[in-house]
Amino acid sequence: MALPKINPTTTKSWKKLQEHFEEVKDYHMKDLFAQDQDRASKYTIKYEDFYVDFSKNRINETTFRYLLELTDEVKLKEAIKSQFSGEFINQTEGRAVLHPALRAPENTEFKVEGVNVMPEVYKVKEKINLFTNNVVNGHLKGFTGKTFTDVVNIGIGGSDLGPAMVVDSLQYYKNHLTTHFVSNVDGDHVNEIIKKLNPETTLFVIVSKTFTTQETLSNANTIKSWFLKSASEDAIAKHFVAVSTNIKNVKNFGIDENNIFPMWDWVGGRFSLWSAVGLTISLAIGYNNFDNLLQGANKMDEHFKNEDFSSNIPVVLALISIWYNNFFKAESEAIIPYTQYLNQFATYLQQGIMESNGKSVDRNGNPIDYQTGTIIWGEPGTNAQHAFFQLIHQGTKLIPADFIGFAKSLHGNQDHHDKLISNFLAQTEALLNGKTEIEVIAEGTQKDIVPFKIFEGNKPTNTIFINKLTPESLGKLIAMYEHKIFVQGIIWNIFSYDQFGVELGKQLATKILQEINNKANNKHDSSTHNLLNYYKSLS
Ligand code: F6P
Repeated sequence: MALPKINPTTTKSWKKLQEHFEEVKDYHMKDLFAQDQDRASKYTIKYEDFYVDFSKNRINETTFRYLLELTDEVKLKEAIKSQFSGEFINQTEGRAVLHPALRAPENTEFKVEGVNVMPEVYKVKEKINLFTNNVVNGHLKGFTGKTFTDVVNIGIGGSDLGPAMVVDSLQYYKNHLTTHFVSNVDGDHVNEIIKKLNPETTLFVIVSKTFTTQETLSNANTIKSWFLKSASEDAIAKHFVAVSTNIKNVKNFGIDENNIFPMWDWVGGRFSLWSAVGLTISLAIGYNNFDNLLQGANKMDEHFKNEDFSSNIPVVLALISIWYNNFFKAESEAIIPYTQYLNQFATYLQQGIMESNGKSVDRNGNPIDYQTGTIIWGEPGTNAQHAFFQLIHQGTKLIPADFIGFAKSLHGNQDHHDKLISNFLAQTEALLNGKTEIEVIAEGTQKDIVPFKIFEGNKPTNTIFINKLTPESLGKLIAMYEHKIFVQGIIWNIFSYDQFGVELGKQLATKILQEINNKANNKHDSSTHNLLNYYKSLS
């Protein structure tokens, strides 16, 4: 069964939401809290170690009811079933979307065209496990007999952002291996990494689903040439491994067949860290921790699949986001983790969310006349407070924000942690309540300064409070956002799992490169023409 193709704006619930919006758009959340003493508990979902408080949103019971009705009308339940049963919901690329299979227990069944993929998934997991142990324990050695000290992940987009974010986020759990990530085709990136490496003790993991990506192949070739200055061709088998679906191209690159970790076309690049694409994660934190990450994600999958929508974390977060996007016309969402460990989390989510839902044609092939994909940005608190929070508090734009915090600190410095969490809680309270003119005057503010010190408040936030940052809880958190992406894609009636929008730039870059090398002469607009000639005159 194909995904339903329902224009959300034609549904009854959408029309009800539109009328309802006109009534409630100016309500202040302060009043909603004052009217209902149970508001916070009514709008909090607890699941295992997750405490998700969505009460600081501009919704009331009617809003919530209409949003839930919308899930019925767009047939969300049926769509979830289609995804988990391996139907080709990535219709434009003719593929299933089964990353949940990668983190499911071995005895479950996920079928693609009638074939259960789980035996294959577990075969690759076992290969990751064995390889990780052999590298970490020093059984595998480099071409001069030394054990490995460094691992370099060479990939871009989904073949870089997920592993890089997870390794950075879980650095507390890291072993002795030093990990590096090379992604940009900018030669300065790879050269800065090479400066830190000893070819005798470095393992290279080339990650490319297609093994055709310009950036990854350029970086891999540059590294291979550098490596071959110190080693012979047969040393490549000891130092280079690859993760790809394109076995032929990997072999042509010179990589030993035993060193290939397969993946499958039913795993999208930006959802692939759970597959062998996560090999660098496994190497960095050990296989058991990697497996715990997967198990955490699986727990979120179970919650998403089975929980009633009214208390289903990804569904509720997606609905709230639709409410701001499509009714309040908010354009962006901020992700503010109150932990330095999640420094790269917003960057990671930018690909997941914006590459998936940045679409303007619906599932019927028609142009869309309502807002889709949110713009995602953010930085860890408290740093963010001293950077862009001014605009969230007192600017003219409505920016819903997710505040992510962990109750326990990993290093246990309670004094710092209490300060961190007090900021975490204070910010959402300030965004909710603001500060009135009366309050500003009562502080003894000079009269002509009063208007500048008023905070309107009424700024929406979700608080995602988790016990502790562990591989398992991070797995849950990432999977939570993956499912939110899915739900929003279903409601917006778009295909979330292709990414044709990144192709045009790639094609034009190939043409321009030929011109830089004087191998072609194409027609351009006058701006591009001049810029190209300017570059050629300087290089
Ligand atoms: O940016 C486009 C994209 O196709 C992403 O979806 C993908 O994660 C990335 O390029 C890298 O692709 P590959 O793993 O095939 O090198």
